[in-house]
Amino acid sequence: MKILIKNIKELIQAESTPKIMVCGKEMSVLPTIENAWLFIENGIISGFGKMQDFSKNSKAEYMIRKDVQTIDATGKMVFPAFCDSHTHIVYAGSREIEYIDKIKGLSYEEIAKRGGGILNSAKRLQQASEEELVEQALERLNEIKMLGTGAVEIKSGYGLNTESELKMLRVIRKLKELSPLTIKATFLGAHAVPAEYKKKQSEYVDLVINEMIPSVAGEDLADYIDVFCDKGFFTVEETERILMAGIKHGLKPKIHANELDFSGGIQTGVKYNALSVDHLEFTGDEEIKALLKSETMPCLLPGAAFFLGMIHPPVRKMIDAGLPVAMASDYNPGSSPSGNMQLIMSFGCILFRMIPEEVINAVTINGAYAMGVEDELGSIAVGKKANVFITKPISTYSFMPYAYGSNKVEKVIINGKIEHQ
Ligand code: NIG
Ligand code: FE
Repeated sequence: MKILIKNIKELIQAESTPKIMVCGKEMSVLPTIENAWLFIENGIISGFGKMQDFSKNSKAEYMIRKDVQTIDATGKMVFPAFCDSHTHIVYAGSREIEYIDKIKGLSYEEIAKRGGGILNSAKRLQQASEEELVEQALERLNEIKMLGTGAVEIKSGYGLNTESELKMLRVIRKLKELSPLTIKATFLGAHAVPAEYKKKQSEYVDLVINEMIPSVAGEDLADYIDVFCDKGFFTVEETERILMAGIKHGLKPKIHANELDFSGGIQTGVKYNALSVDHLEFTGDEEIKALLKSETMPCLLPGAAFFLGMIHPPVRKMIDAGLPVAMASDYNPGSSPSGNMQLIMSFGCILFRMIPEEVINAVTINGAYAMGVEDELGSIAVGKKANVFITKPISTYSFMPYAYGSNKVEKVIINGKIEHQ
C-alpha cells in the first residue's frame, strides 16, 4: 500500500538527519515543515518535503499514480505517532473502589498497606485466564491507538508469582502478534512484595532472581527488566541484585524510581546503565548530576502525579540543567487509568510548565529512546516506520496540548495502513 498525504498544514518532527534524543535547550526546538507532503510505501516513510517542491521531486509522477491513495490534509497537521514508553496495560479489571478511598484522603502507600493497590490487581490477575487478559488489553490498545499512540511498552508485575508473571508476559507476546502497534515487553516481578512474603521480602527477591528471571529469559518473553525501587517497596540493594541477574540474562534495566522518596533509585538506574528511570517526583541536585553523566532517559509520568495528587518532579530544573526528558502515560488501574498521550502532553504543560515543543519532543523522539525504538520510530524520517497520525483541522501545534481533554486526532496510520476503530 502506498499513501501520499498532501497539503499538510504542518508536518511535525520532520528530520533530515535523525537524532536519537533531544536534551536541554534543544527540547524547545521542534523541526517542522509548513505546507508539506509525506509519502509512505510498504509501511515505511519514503519521502517528504514542501508542497512547492513536490513537482520537482524525481518521484513525483510515481507518487500520483493510480495505485497510490492520496489524502488531502488541508488545514490538518501530521505527527509521528506517540511512543508511550511506560505502561501496565495488561490487568484484570479496574480499581475505582480505591479511587474513592483516595478521594476520601487515603494515600497510595496507605491503600497498598491495606492489601489494596498492586496486590489487589495481582489477586485478580492470578485468577484471570490468558484469553480474558488478552481481550481486555486489546481493547485498551485499540483505544490508545486511535488516540495517536503507535508504540507502547508493557510491563508485567501483577502476577507476583512465577506462573502468573509468565502468564502476563505471554499475554504481551500475544498482543505483539495481534496488534499492529510496536510493543516492547518488560519483566517487573519486583513490583510489590506478595502478602505471603511480607516478613521475608528477601526470599521473594531470591524467587525473582533464581526462578522468574531464568524462566522469562528462557522463553525470551521480555525485552527489559524493571524494579519498583522506592520507599516501602524494594531497596537499592535488592534492586541491584535483581538488575544484575536481569543483565546477566540479557535484560536491560528500565526502572521505577524516586516516586515516593529520595530512594536512591535514580543513581541505581544510572549505575546499571538503565535505558530509562521513571516517575522521578523526588529528584534533587545529586540525582540530576548522576543523570547528566549517563545515557539514561529520565521519564516523567504526569498522569500518575496528577491522579495521585503528588508533588511534581523539578522538570524545569532538569531541562535547564541540560537533561532530556520523556513522558509516558503509566496506563494502569491504580495510579493512572488512562493511556491518552494527548492528555499527557497537556499535563506536561500545565503541571510541569513545559512548553508545547518540549512536550511534543518528550512523547515522540525521547519516548522512542526510552523504549529502545528511536531508530525506527519517534520522528518523521525517511526509512522510519510509517506510524503517524493526521490531526483534525487545528490552528497551531500548540493547540494539541492546549485543548486538553478532547481528541484532536482524526486519522491514524500504523505500518503504512489506515486504522479504523
Ligand atoms: O507506575 N509505581 C508503581 N507502579 C505503578 C502503579 C501500579 C498500581 O498501582 O497498580 C505506577 O504508578
Ligand atoms: Fe508504572
